[in-house]
Amino acid sequence: MATEALKIEHIDAFYGDSHVLHGVSLSLKEGQVLALLGRNGAGKTTCISSIMGLVAPRNGTISLFGETISGLPPETISRTGVGLVPQGRRIFPSLTVKENLVIARQRESNDPKSWNLERIFNLFPRLEERQQQLAGSLSGGEQQMLALGRALMGNPRVLLLDEPSEGLAPLIVAEVGRTIALLKQEGQSIILVEQNSNLALSLADDVMILNTGRVVFSGPASEVIGNDALITQHLGIFHGH
Ligand SMILES: Nc1ncnc2c1ncn2[C@@H]1O[C@H](COP(=O)(O)OP(=O)(O)OP(=O)(O)O)[C@@H](O)[C@H]1O
Ligand SMILES: [Mg+2]
Repeated sequence: MATEALKIEHIDAFYGDSHVLHGVSLSLKEGQVLALLGRNGAGKTTCISSIMGLVAPRNGTISLFGETISGLPPETISRTGVGLVPQGRRIFPSLTVKENLVIARQRESNDPKSWNLERIFNLFPRLEERQQQLAGSLSGGEQQMLALGRALMGNPRVLLLDEPSEGLAPLIVAEVGRTIALLKQEGQSIILVEQNSNLALSLADDVMILNTGRVVFSGPASEVIGNDALITQHLGIFHGH
């Protein structure tokens, strides 16, 4: 059995008195992609924020490679090895591309597979070309690459991607998809939140679907692909052909 990279067990999450996640559990195996799907407001970002420690889960536990991380502050969770590409990207628009990357570096490492500026620029040649440009002047797709580059600079053991294709043109979405596939090939463990279920299902090993804060499906992607009833009921949009 593959090692469990990230495990959530029965968490509840609240904003004030508003109960948003109800007994949510999930398991991400090392080197795999888990797609987290659901309609607007289903609780996907809240789930990601709970993993990051930005929302404190009540009840339940979250663990990274067997070590409990729930209850730790976000900066500790980040240092422990959880990388986040937040929804809406959140790069620093008034810093250059290179500055955005350099300040995201967490620690020096001698591991030849660890991420550095050179490896990021190999992955995204366009960022190298634009390294002296202000990040705010980049296109949406380039900003997404920069956000991903920033997360990788922390050498995450688990990478959380919150709607990386949101607001991007189809050709750029395909490029984002190829990049995620490449990272997976290199053994990166990934939780991928997506509204674009076609993209997510083409990359995912396992799928979890949330509906109003509850897990309504959890299983292999092969059980979701072609399951029009499940897709229509919980994702609202029918992408089948
Ligand atoms: N900061 C907040 N304060 C209060 N309620 C919030 C807050 N953030 C989200 N919510 C509510 O929590 C629920 C889950 O929101 P969440 O952002 O996790 O959904 P989501 O699945 O990521 O949706 P989207 O696809 O729109 O990004 C929604 O009802 C939302 O209105
Ligand atoms: Mg969201």
